[in-house]
Amino acid sequence: MDAIDNILNRVSARLLKEPYPSNEEMNKVYKAALRAPDHAWLRPSSFIQVTGDGIKELSKIFEEYAKTIPNIKDEIITKYKNAPFRAPMIIILVSTFKDHPKVPGIEQKLSTAASAQNILLSLSALGYSAIWRTGKLAFNPYIASKLNLTDNQEILGYIYVGTAEGTNKKIPELDINDYISYL
Ligand SMILES: Cc1cc2nc3c(=O)[nH]c(=O)nc-3n(C[C@H](O)[C@H](O)[C@H](O)COP(=O)(O)O)c2cc1C
Repeated sequence: MDAIDNILNRVSARLLKEPYPSNEEMNKVYKAALRAPDHAWLRPSSFIQVTGDGIKELSKIFEEYAKTIPNIKDEIITKYKNAPFRAPMIIILVSTFKDHPKVPGIEQKLSTAASAQNILLSLSALGYSAIWRTGKLAFNPYIASKLNLTDNQEILGYIYVGTAEGTNKKIPELDINDYISYL
C-alpha cells in the first residue's frame, strides 16, 4: 500500500475481534515502533503485549484498581473489569524516563507517542485495526506497579488491536487552511 494512502486512510476502530497479528507481523510492527524519532537515542519506549490469559490478568488488575477508588459504583468496577475484553490483543505503551542533560522527560514521552503512531500505521498497513485508549487506566502508578514497572516508567496508553467489526467510520474532511499558517 502506498505510504501516504495508508496514513490518510487509517481509522481507529472501537469494535475489534480476531484475527489479530501473528508473531511475524508483530515483529515488523515493533521494529517500526522502534524507528520513532528518539533524541539522543535514549530508547524510552517499550511495549507489553497482552493476549489470551494475559487479557484476563489485565482485567483482574483493572478491577483491583477500580476497587481502590473511594465510593466507586459497581457499574464502573464492571466497566474497568470488562475493558480489556474489547480486543483480542492489547499493546501497553510504556515510556521509561532516563535522566539526560539535553532530553527532558516530555521529549521522551513524545518519542513513545511517535512510536504509538508507527504502531497504528503499521497495523493499518498489515490490514488490522486498532485504537489508542487512555482514561484513568493510563498514567496510573497503581496499574504500573502491578505490571512490575519501576518508578521511572509510565503507561502512556493502551493500543487495542484486532480486526474491525462492521464498516470503517468515515474519515472527516478537514480544510488544511484552518490548521496551517505560513511565515
Ligand atoms: C493520547 C490519546 C489518548 C486517547 N484516549 C482515548 C480513550 O481513552 N478513549 C477513546 O475512545 N479514544 C481515545 N483516543 C482517541 C482515539 O484513539 C482515536 O484517535 C479517535 O477515536 C479518533 O479516531 P481516528 O484515529 O480514526 O481519527 C485517544 C487518542 C490519543 C492520541
